[in-house]
Amino acid sequence: MELEGKRIVLGVTGSVAAYKAAVLLRLLTGAGAKTQVAMTDAATRFVGPATFAALSGKLVLTDLWAAADENPMTHIDITRAADAILIAPATADCLARLAQGRADDLLAAMTLARACPLLVAPAMNRRMWENPATQRNLEILRQDGVTCLGPDTGLQACGEEGEGRMLAPETLLEVLRAFFTPNSLAGKKVLLTAGPTFEALDPVRGITNLSSGCMGYAVARAAARAGAEVTLVSGPVAQAAPMNVACIPVQSALEMYRAVMQRATTADIFIAVAAVADYRAERIAPQKLKKSAGSPPEIRLAQNPDILAEVAALPNPPFCVGFAAESERLEDHAQQKRARKGVPLIVGNLIQEGFGGETNHVILFDDAGSHPLPVAPKIQIARQLLAHILALMEKK
Ligand code: CTP
Repeated sequence: MELEGKRIVLGVTGSVAAYKAAVLLRLLTGAGAKTQVAMTDAATRFVGPATFAALSGKLVLTDLWAAADENPMTHIDITRAADAILIAPATADCLARLAQGRADDLLAAMTLARACPLLVAPAMNRRMWENPATQRNLEILRQDGVTCLGPDTGLQACGEEGEGRMLAPETLLEVLRAFFTPNSLAGKKVLLTAGPTFEALDPVRGITNLSSGCMGYAVARAAARAGAEVTLVSGPVAQAAPMNVACIPVQSALEMYRAVMQRATTADIFIAVAAVADYRAERIAPQKLKKSAGSPPEIRLAQNPDILAEVAALPNPPFCVGFAAESERLEDHAQQKRARKGVPLIVGNLIQEGFGGETNHVILFDDAGSHPLPVAPKIQIARQLLAHILALMEKK
C-alpha cells in the first residue's frame, strides 16, 4: 500500500473547509498513514483539536510555545521524520505566509524547517483565489517546489459559485497515493477496456452480463498512479471515473471495438478487462418489441469482433493482456485463450472467486507458465499485474 507507514503531517488552517480535513484524516489513517496534525489558531475556531486528536490518536500541535515547553525542537523533529506535509485546507493567508517564509506559528515554523515535500490544498472564496496577490504567492510557492492541489470549482460556503473550494478528501487521498507511487509507468500509454457491453435488442432491452467494472477500473487507477497516460474504454458501469484517466463510455461491443482500434496503434500496453459480449442481435428493432400471441420470437445473433485478438494481430501491436474468467479448468482454458488470441499474458480467475467482489484470486499465465497471486483487494492485484507486465516488457 502506497500510504502504509508513511508519516504525514496534516496542517489545518482557518477555513470552513477544516471540517473536511477531519474526513481526510480518517481516510489517511484508514490507508495506514502515520499522521500528526498541526492546526493554526484560526483553524481551532472552526473545528476543535479534540476531533483531530481522536482521529489521529495523537495530541494535536497548535501552539509554538506550548510545543517548545515540551521539546524546544518540536518543529524540527517532526518535520525531519515526516514523509510529506499536506496543508488542507490552506487559506489565502496561509499561502501568503508560506510564500514569505514566515515562522511565527508552529505550522509555519514546521513548514519552513521541513526536509520533505510540501503539498497545499487551497480553500477560499473565489475572489480571494482570483486576486493577483494570491496568484503571485502561488507562483512563488510553485517555483519553490510546493505542490498545489486544486482548488475545485463549485458552490462555496459563502454562497458564491466559482473556483476556490478545497478538493474533496477522497480526491486528496488519491493524489497522495499517486505521490507515493513510484512512477514505473511514466511515459507509457495504457489503453484498457472494462465493464460489460450492452447489446441492444430494441430501444429498451438488451443482452448484457454481470461485470461490475471493478477490476478494470482498479487497473486503470493503478496505472494512472504509476504515471501512465491512461485511456479507459468502459461499458455501462456504476463506477466513478478514476483520477487522471481519460474515460470513453461505450455501450456495445462494436462501439468498444471502434473506440479501441482508433487508439490501439499509439498505445504501449493494451489490457482487455471488459466482459465483451461475443454476439449481438443481428437486427435491433427500432420500436419496442411487442408480445405476440404465437410462439416466442427468435433472436438471430451476429458475431462481435474479438477486440483483444484484433489488437494483438496489428502489425506493431502494443503489449496485449487478456482476462479469462472461467467456471472450470482455469489453466487449460486460459492457456488456450492466450494462444488463440496471440497475447503474451492472460489473467485467469474462477468466476466463483472474483466476479463482482472486492477481492480477487487470479493466476497469471505467460510463456513461463502460471504465477498464482495471493487473494487480495483488486487494487493490489492491479498493481502486481502492472509490475508483471513491466517485467515481461523489459525481457522482450
Ligand atoms: N475479449 C475481447 N473481445 C471480445 C471477447 C473477448 O476483447 N469480443 C477479451 C476480453 O476482454 C478478455 C478476453 O478477450 O480479455 C477473454 O474473453 P472471453 O470472453 O473469456 O473469451 P472468449 O474468446 O469469448 O472465450 P469464451 O467466451 O469461449 O470463454
